[in-house]
Amino acid sequence: MLRTHDCNSLTVADADAQRQVTLIGWVDTVRDLGGVRFVDLRDREGVTQIVFNPGNPEVHSRAHHLKDESVIQVTGTVVRREAETINPKMNTGEIEIVATALVVHNVCQPLPFPMDDEKADKVGEDLRLEYRYLDLRRPRNIHLVKTRALAARAIRNVLENEGFLEVETPILFKSTPEGAREFLVPSRLNPGSFYALAQSPQQYKQMLMVAGVEKYYQLARCFRDEDLRADRQLEFTQIDVEMSFIEREDIYALVEKIISQVWKNVLNIDIPTPFPRISYREAMDRYGVDKPDTRFGMEIADFTDLFKNSAFKVFSSAANSPNGVVRAINAKGLADITQGELTNLETTVRSLGAKGLAYIKAENGTWKSPIIKFFSESEIAILREKLVIEDGDIVFFAASTWEQAGAILGRVRLEAARLLRQRGKLTIPADRFDFLWVIEFPLMLWDAEESRFVSAHHPFTAAVKEDEPLLETSPEKVRGQHYDIVLNGVELGGGSIRIHDPSVQRHIFENVLKIPSDVVQSRFGYMLKAFSYGAPPHGGIALGLDRLVAMLAGRTSIRDIIAFPKTQKGQDIMAESPSPATPRQLRDLRITTTTSNDEK
Ligand code: AMO
Ligand code: AMP
Repeated sequence: MLRTHDCNSLTVADADAQRQVTLIGWVDTVRDLGGVRFVDLRDREGVTQIVFNPGNPEVHSRAHHLKDESVIQVTGTVVRREAETINPKMNTGEIEIVATALVVHNVCQPLPFPMDDEKADKVGEDLRLEYRYLDLRRPRNIHLVKTRALAARAIRNVLENEGFLEVETPILFKSTPEGAREFLVPSRLNPGSFYALAQSPQQYKQMLMVAGVEKYYQLARCFRDEDLRADRQLEFTQIDVEMSFIEREDIYALVEKIISQVWKNVLNIDIPTPFPRISYREAMDRYGVDKPDTRFGMEIADFTDLFKNSAFKVFSSAANSPNGVVRAINAKGLADITQGELTNLETTVRSLGAKGLAYIKAENGTWKSPIIKFFSESEIAILREKLVIEDGDIVFFAASTWEQAGAILGRVRLEAARLLRQRGKLTIPADRFDFLWVIEFPLMLWDAEESRFVSAHHPFTAAVKEDEPLLETSPEKVRGQHYDIVLNGVELGGGSIRIHDPSVQRHIFENVLKIPSDVVQSRFGYMLKAFSYGAPPHGGIALGLDRLVAMLAGRTSIRDIIAFPKTQKGQDIMAESPSPATPRQLRDLRITTTTSNDEK
């Protein structure tokens, strides 16, 4: 190698041995003190101080022109620093290298943005993504790259130790029913036909179970043409697992082992197992979402019975309608919410279909609310007691269907927590990790727009055994053997025990999901066929690796922990993709394109 040591490893022992060393890396900083030139040399591992003395004029004069981020190679002697120049913040802060030779391998042009973490973080993300290689080179980001690699290694170790086989599955696949929009790839060899990029290896991993692999895993790339958000990318990575001859408990135990090992290896934190479990119904009742953030309370309380005879018609009519509820949360200490914040909150809930957002503010010993005049003494007393309303609190109400009231108050709860954290009234330690299994999801959800059932997870999910007879009569009552793992309000992963009986699978496709039988045949015929050749009972899960690493690293956007992420608009600004195809390429693929003008 072009070096004897990395920039984070030399100590006073090397100085006392007067060791001759060669280091190579990037110029971090250059300082001039009384004619002596000091260069901080940085590589992936750390920083070492180099000294260029005027006593060595040839090397000293060339050190004069070093630019930040140029690549240099330095040979010299390790020496102890003077006592007063020791830097306790640096691993190598007790030594420095007195340079005897210098090679400049690459001269860095003026930088498009400062490399200093604090300054760089204020630079627009687009500029940083255009120069992603520079952005990644910053110590903080190189640390994130390492964190991701360390996490992946820990995951592989657990799975390898448990006897899993890593198997790669095709990326060029065909349309799958996972729900997201797909990327299509034209087939040159089969004109007019298209592959779809795999949304996940779901069907292939099930085929691997029929093939007798028994324990499969893959850190699998998945592709979904979705609208991008902080926790969504077009291509992302799953820790994808499938096992034969198991029950749900086996998956819970395996995932708990993976998580606790990763948190131990990367953060040296002990995560207690087993993780708490909550049913879908209870999660929706208490938190209004199927991925509750349990790091704070502010739970939803039900007042449907209380308001059945209310003088406030909005409440009484909701309380008396089928599936209607009146629910509330107490945002403790948020009575000082500003008018602007309240208006924003109202706009948010209206976008979820709310007709309004009734509230009560408890301030200076009185309750202020546009609807207080409708409340009776006993209603007030019960609200006060059940929600523990004290001065400084604000209570929000939702009168709607069970689903909508949950969605509204679930959102208000998260927003209220955000406002309380901003005000310093709610503190959540950075090292708090609330893992949670959400279980007992319904197998099917009613899609009112399309007037048919859709799978809550995917159509390969098996029903809970004792609910199976209900599949014929009332599919909405059937619970699925589906589980999600949630961390601090983020869905980390999900999976299920699968159907392995071809007649049950066909019944779900054709009679419950109402997929026409010719479509079933063309999309899933091969699966149904495979299931009639000795399909083992099986199940699995996929965890989002990007989300997991973001949580480990305390980042809110998965873009931060993906080496080359896409922007909100799905672009790679560095490589300038996507980009137009040449006419020749399009001709080969027999594709004609229309411009937006043609479309008009
Ligand atoms: P699902 O669709 O729930 O399940 O995906 C599993 C996990 O993958 C992550 N994820 C994403 N991460 C980043 N960007 C995206 N666009 C994105 N979409 C999903 C999430 C999610 O929890 N085949 C099934 C799993 C199974 O049944 O075994 C599946 O893909 O963390
Ligand atoms: P209104 O009687 O429409 O003037 O509403 C009185 C208050 O109740 C207003 O603050 C509305 O925002 C609120 N409100 C109206 N409908 C609902 C509802 N379905 N759930 C909760 N609050 C509501």
